[in-house]
Amino acid sequence: MPFRPRYTGLIDKYRDRLPVHDDTRIISLGEGNTPLIRLNNIPREIGKEVDIYVKYEGLNPTGSFKDRGMTMAVTKAVEEGSRAVICASTGNTSAAAAAYAARAGITAFVLIPEGKIAMGKLAQAMMHGSVVLQIRGNFDAGMRLVKEVAAEAPVTIVNSINPYRLQGQKTAAFEIIEELGRAPDYHCLPVGNAGNITAHWIGYCEYSAASGDHVTEACSFCKGHCTYAGGAIVGNRPKMVGYQAAGSAPFMRGHMVDDPDTVATAIRIGHPQSWDQAWKVREESGGWFDECSDEEILAAQKLLARKEGVFCEPASAASLAGALRDIKSGKIPEGSSVVCTLTGNGLKDPDTAIAQSQGGVVTIDAALEPVKAAILGNMK
Ligand code: F0G
Repeated sequence: MPFRPRYTGLIDKYRDRLPVHDDTRIISLGEGNTPLIRLNNIPREIGKEVDIYVKYEGLNPTGSFKDRGMTMAVTKAVEEGSRAVICASTGNTSAAAAAYAARAGITAFVLIPEGKIAMGKLAQAMMHGSVVLQIRGNFDAGMRLVKEVAAEAPVTIVNSINPYRLQGQKTAAFEIIEELGRAPDYHCLPVGNAGNITAHWIGYCEYSAASGDHVTEACSFCKGHCTYAGGAIVGNRPKMVGYQAAGSAPFMRGHMVDDPDTVATAIRIGHPQSWDQAWKVREESGGWFDECSDEEILAAQKLLARKEGVFCEPASAASLAGALRDIKSGKIPEGSSVVCTLTGNGLKDPDTAIAQSQGGVVTIDAALEPVKAAILGNMK
């Protein structure tokens, strides 16, 4: 049997496109290389001829797309001599920062909004030994504090305002193009700080002929951090579509929101850090922003779990909820190829999953007859 080289993470794979040196010590947990799953049952159910794929980022080492950015951010922090990283987080960034800091042997400080992060994420930050600072305030307040403290203390910020984060996250677009042989027509993502939608656009631009001159010092997205100036791989770029939770939708309101709220706690953000970049992504790609209610988000999460066997966290399901609505209305036309990023694993937030699956458990006596009756009464 021929052996393939062991997959050792996205920095090793995309080394020539990332700002690392030959002797850089790479801090990796084997992130990236996530499955692009074609949906079979949902398109049939809605009666539309579209190729919908989900990029299951929940299968990264800490269960979210943040690992793509964190491998880069922590690798560079260590290279630059930092002994500690810090972030504000709705949960996933803190889980990733904690894990990669543990791997690197440095300290992670994480600021999280009290009572507003999913249990799995809190467990991760605690288990990996980060210093968890629970604040009486929301993510936006935490972000403000992190910026202030980092100006005075020897800590490296690993939120997505750290440009290395977006460099790592752009590799998701590379993987999609490599699998499809082209960019999709539409790429749908949930939007919080808008770092990920910006990172994907950087990746698509870097791989496409339409933007051969993207990799320049003047590029406002990569801020000179893209290192690859080679040839294009494909001719097309997708329209980038960003969906927000309705209670937390500054891009829909056209201004910052001071008191964001949504069941999708990961994207409970009213002051997005990549505000300007995200508007530019929308404009350059010809895409749009839209919002989904909490009910729509939870319904899409459940639909995906039940019809396709894929379990994502609520925030992630915003991408599918919005995409399905736009496919049904024809805004995304039949014949299109659509990729939805599933940013985080459903296991992150068991409380929300259980709360909306009431009636899913039947308690019976430990005897043959009730088991048989339950089987006969519950066949699909
Ligand atoms: N989906 C999930 C599961 C997230 O955790 C986040 C952001 C997003 C989507 C939005 O991505 O901010 O790049 O637009 N989570 C951050 C955190 C804020 O702290 O974990 P974005």
